Amino acid sequence: MLNIDPTLATVHTVGAVTKISFISGHVAGALTSRTDDIAKWCATLAPTASLRTGAVTTDIAALLQSFGFTQARELVLLERDLDGFNTSIAIQDWAVSAWRCHSAARIDAQAFPIGWDMTRSEITHALQATTYSGIAFVNQGRQRIGYALVGTSLDHAYLQRIAVLPPAQGLGFGALLTESCLRWAAERGAAKMFVNTESDNQPALRLYQRFGFELCGERLFVMEKAATSR
Ligand SMILES: CC(C)(COP(=O)(O)OP(=O)(O)OC[C@H]1O[C@@H](n2cnc3c(N)ncnc32)[C@H](O)[C@@H]1OP(=O)(O)O)[C@@H](O)C(=O)NCCC(=O)NCCS
Repeated sequence: MLNIDPTLATVHTVGAVTKISFISGHVAGALTSRTDDIAKWCATLAPTASLRTGAVTTDIAALLQSFGFTQARELVLLERDLDGFNTSIAIQDWAVSAWRCHSAARIDAQAFPIGWDMTRSEITHALQATTYSGIAFVNQGRQRIGYALVGTSLDHAYLQRIAVLPPAQGLGFGALLTESCLRWAAERGAAKMFVNTESDNQPALRLYQRFGFELCGERLFVMEKAATSR
């Protein structure tokens, strides 16, 4: 088990993958001064386990590369001003509960490739990462077929996750969720919303750009250290 300062990162082990999500803020500075810790994390893990980070900035990616991490995913960051955002479209129920996190994780597991989905505990942590947060669902009949996680801290909002079950994709559910998240954030006084996605995720990019999100120019990376490379 990795012993990581909880103010620096949260750790989730899923099968043979240990996922480290750095807490945003002064992470680049904090990590640079704690390179001994990174070396320790790499040494502590069983040889069959691999390490994977959440989205990190270019400077952290470069630092981790010097410890043998390689780039697993390249992400782009998009932003949208919420000034004057107005819509009548809205999902009403944004409650956060253990059961709703469980439902969201079930959808996530089917919408993302194996190993890239978020577990219930990762979803719970993502919800705790912002001052205010909510989960919305869309239903087809009585079945929950899509969900979104959104949060705000100060005047910034984050569309943390959005997923629709594959058979229900392309039918407008993603649009309904996105528009509802924008309204949720605007109603809570956020000035801007941010979202990141893989640079080649065309359905997600089209969806976000359709709702006025623009590329910020910043690249983010998911870094991995494979079991065999230690
Ligand atoms: C991204 C995602 C949430 C979109 O949900 P959706 O319900 O399919 O979206 P909508 O039906 O509202 O369509 C929104 C836009 O995406 C486009 N789109 C949907 N599926 C697409 C596909 N397979 N290929 C290309 N574009 C697609 C639609 O054409 C639409 O664009 P348009 O308005 O310009 O025509 C869904 O594809 C998904 O769950 N993907 C897997 C998880 C994921 O990648 N999440 C986002 C990254 S965190």
